[in-house]
Amino acid sequence: MDKRIISNNLLVDDEIEVTLRPQVFAEYIGQTSVKEMMQIAVGAAKKRQESLDHVLFYGPPGLGKTTLAQVIANELGVNMRTISGPTIERTGDLAAILTSLEPGDVLFIDEIHRLPKIVEEILYSSMEDFVIDIVVGKDNGAKSIRVDLPPFTLIGATTRFGDLTGPLRDRFGIVHKLEFYSDSDLETICRRTASIYNCEICETAIVELAKRSRGTPRIVNRLFRRVRDYADILADGVITLPITQTALEKLKIDASGLDRKDREYLAVIIEKYHGGPVGLETIATSISEDALTLEDVYEPYLIQKGFISRTPRGRVATDLAYQHLKKGYQGSLF
Ligand code: ADE
Repeated sequence: MDKRIISNNLLVDDEIEVTLRPQVFAEYIGQTSVKEMMQIAVGAAKKRQESLDHVLFYGPPGLGKTTLAQVIANELGVNMRTISGPTIERTGDLAAILTSLEPGDVLFIDEIHRLPKIVEEILYSSMEDFVIDIVVGKDNGAKSIRVDLPPFTLIGATTRFGDLTGPLRDRFGIVHKLEFYSDSDLETICRRTASIYNCEICETAIVELAKRSRGTPRIVNRLFRRVRDYADILADGVITLPITQTALEKLKIDASGLDRKDREYLAVIIEKYHGGPVGLETIATSISEDALTLEDVYEPYLIQKGFISRTPRGRVATDLAYQHLKKGYQGSLF
């Protein structure tokens, strides 16, 4: 018999994540002030029959930057083209995409801080005047021709606002930071996800999942799917509080939603470096993790929850981090 190829979990989860995405503002939960301001901007652009001004969303991963961009495109009634900064290597790649847009379309550029510099430079005139200058021919025969573009809206997303160059940053008329979600918003998202899956879940389980999801919709949805697996195999498919607690314990997610890597991070500062300050690179090497990943993915939540602070001399563990790890050792979370 032929071997079956079982697709990897991540891909499957990502595909499902897409189907869970809200399509219109009314379905989009949380980020209230950003949502309200975008509703006004979209409504005004539609009323004036203009393309929406360029938009930049920044903030930690998983907070709904792509989702919000898709909602905006849907509400504008236009198509959205999605590209990712590092995959656009040549100016020609971007030029081909820009010239194929329909008037009013949204071009979504994820990880926009990672666009190569030469590619970024052709964005300047595209954003400002809807034109690009393309160089044709070589050496002495080279000449620049100007190509008009349809009016379009660029929506950029980045986890690293500070890495954007000044000229690019300045060309966005609308700039918003996405914040971590409240537990109550995550509960609403979890309830919505359960109903899309047609899955019965107890209120106490919803509260527990939300509490342990690091303020992040992508995480509440991911944990929901793992807990649902446990409910299907160990029980009758109903997600109860004990099932949720068992599954999260197996996944080594603690009461504050920290995972193994978070706790390793805190333990290194506390045990190896007496609570800090210690440099990010040193922590990264000690726990075999990439420094950029620690900075973009792990640190924002640890800082927001008050487990660490960033000082000019390095990272420092707070009293809360000490207390948290003590509790962890009493259980078996490492
Ligand atoms: N799924 C992911 N993010 C969401 C959000 N902000 N609202 C509703 N569902 C979501």
